[in-house]
Amino acid sequence: MIRVDFNVPLMNGSVGDDTRIRASLPTLRYAIDRGATVVLVSHLGRPKGQPRTDLSLKPIAIHLSKLLDLPVEFAADCLGEAAQNAVDRANPGEVILLENLRFHPEEEQNDPTFATALAAFTDVYINDAFGTAHRAHASTVGIVKHVANAGVGMLMADEVDHLGALLAHPNHPFIAILGGSKVSGKLDVIENLLERVDTLLLGGAMAYTFFKAQSLPIGASLVEPELLDATDRIVRLAQECGVQLRLPSDHVVAERVEVGATCETLTVSDATIGDRIGIDIGPRTRAVYASHIRSAQTVMWNGPMGVFEIDEFAEGTMAVAHAVAESEATTVVGGGDSIAAVTKAGVTDHITHISTGGGASLEFLAGRILPGVDALPDL
Ligand code: 3PG
Repeated sequence: MIRVDFNVPLMNGSVGDDTRIRASLPTLRYAIDRGATVVLVSHLGRPKGQPRTDLSLKPIAIHLSKLLDLPVEFAADCLGEAAQNAVDRANPGEVILLENLRFHPEEEQNDPTFATALAAFTDVYINDAFGTAHRAHASTVGIVKHVANAGVGMLMADEVDHLGALLAHPNHPFIAILGGSKVSGKLDVIENLLERVDTLLLGGAMAYTFFKAQSLPIGASLVEPELLDATDRIVRLAQECGVQLRLPSDHVVAERVEVGATCETLTVSDATIGDRIGIDIGPRTRAVYASHIRSAQTVMWNGPMGVFEIDEFAEGTMAVAHAVAESEATTVVGGGDSIAAVTKAGVTDHITHISTGGGASLEFLAGRILPGVDALPDL
């Protein structure tokens, strides 16, 4: 049994971005080539313990079958007769994907009876679901003590190696680039990274909470008012740690976040922003950030610089994607949006490591122990 994280975006019933599925292929092929009967388990979305047709893993079985160029048997439940029959019928070297674990509330409750029932199909349990390693669920944690053999998949090992090296022994200069909409989700990461990086480049909507705390004009940009003090603390901590904390010096503003919006580039102190919204970093910031990235030996990037899904507001994020890709440093990119950004920029092959973990990679970088990793015997 291999616990994978096939929690991927579906669009009109088929797989959108399949990065996570592709990243699991080395472990799957290894097991298949050695004649294992491979039983795959995953969650998809947050169905809250109820079956939901739109969150079935069936389209993923079809997609996986194409990637592996092998049939993938789909079982309509992860337990009971459907699962048992599929496992009993399978021959060595064949692959079965069981239905969404989260159709049963017991999965997220880490219920021991549910974990035991999953373990019943299992001679060897491998956890390759790095993206779910921050969740202590039945299929990631509870199951481990009910199986005779448990181990780490290649994707999981690769993630822990690359992200672990960032924290433990990065080559300097080490530059972290953080973006995205909220400071709240990244406070712990910022604090943990400040002890390790030489420069921290911030962008995306999270910069506006810093600007607000510095009384800069932010118009109608997104702010987390309850975090103004926290941003002050981060600025002080950066000074204490001798870290250069860079915020954008110019930005692209518009009245609305929509295709075709009229944009203007302003310095961040320009009060003519009025009640417009800051949506991307400006050209001067892009150039400064790119030159920092060029000088780095290690680069970690998580979170876009603007609303890059809309072309008018994508240039900042694309500039960072290209600078990271062109850098000779060890480069690690994490988080669903940043992965989508390097994909949009067409530079995925030029990144040292693309992490499949969103929340999991942030928790790892915040210095927390991931329960799914901790439960495994020999990592
Ligand atoms: C993710 O996409 O971050 C993981 O698959 C975990 O999903 P979750 O946040 O719904 O637990």
